[in-house]
Amino acid sequence: MALHASSLPPKRPPTLPEQIAATLADQGWCVTDDFLPPLLVCQLRQEAQQRWQAGHFRRAGVGRGAELRLRDEVRTDRVAWLDPEALSAAQRLYWAEMEQLRLALNQMLFLGLYALEAHLAVYPPGTYYRKHLDQFRGIGARTLSCVLYLNEAWQEEDGGALRIDTEPEAPERSLAVLPKGGRLVTFFSARFLHEVEPAQRERFSLTGWFKRRPGPRG
Ligand code: OGA
Ligand code: MN
Repeated sequence: MALHASSLPPKRPPTLPEQIAATLADQGWCVTDDFLPPLLVCQLRQEAQQRWQAGHFRRAGVGRGAELRLRDEVRTDRVAWLDPEALSAAQRLYWAEMEQLRLALNQMLFLGLYALEAHLAVYPPGTYYRKHLDQFRGIGARTLSCVLYLNEAWQEEDGGALRIDTEPEAPERSLAVLPKGGRLVTFFSARFLHEVEPAQRERFSLTGWFKRRPGPRG
């Protein structure tokens, strides 16, 4: 019997979060341009610049809890955490879009992600973040790293590329991603070593991590 068209589920193109989830399922990392509209990226950038000029950023540390240390040989960027209870209108729009991504990831990849933590980061000229994993010694709940860039008209010669070891067996074939405004880079936190190369100009980003509830074995 021929299947009647009306008995099929309605076809619609996949949403951006669904496309990201599908790519992550396939290769574990994903680079998405225009994740947010340019006007919103501009608003987020201006707010970040204001907070930076007002002195709200702090030196970023390495490690967690009592082991948190400032380590210049590892990273020299500055960060300002987002308070989910006190988001600006622009940050609320970012948060809502990230929530769509969280739901798509849980639906399609059964990741059980439950919370987002996010900070603004600025890399003044010459600063860097050496090769690292976003999961602290393989423990901790950070599951997916999501870096959204806020920079206007970033050029190759501005430096500041994010370098990801997408092929752990062949680090020489690492992927270089320029921090262009509106671009979102996502990757599984425990799987990919990555580093931020020194930039020639101030480099702004909004970095989020989706966390998973620790299982019975932590
Ligand atoms: C980080 C990080 C990458 C980037 O904050 O852990 O790796 O491109 N950021 O800013
Ligand atoms: Mn990182």
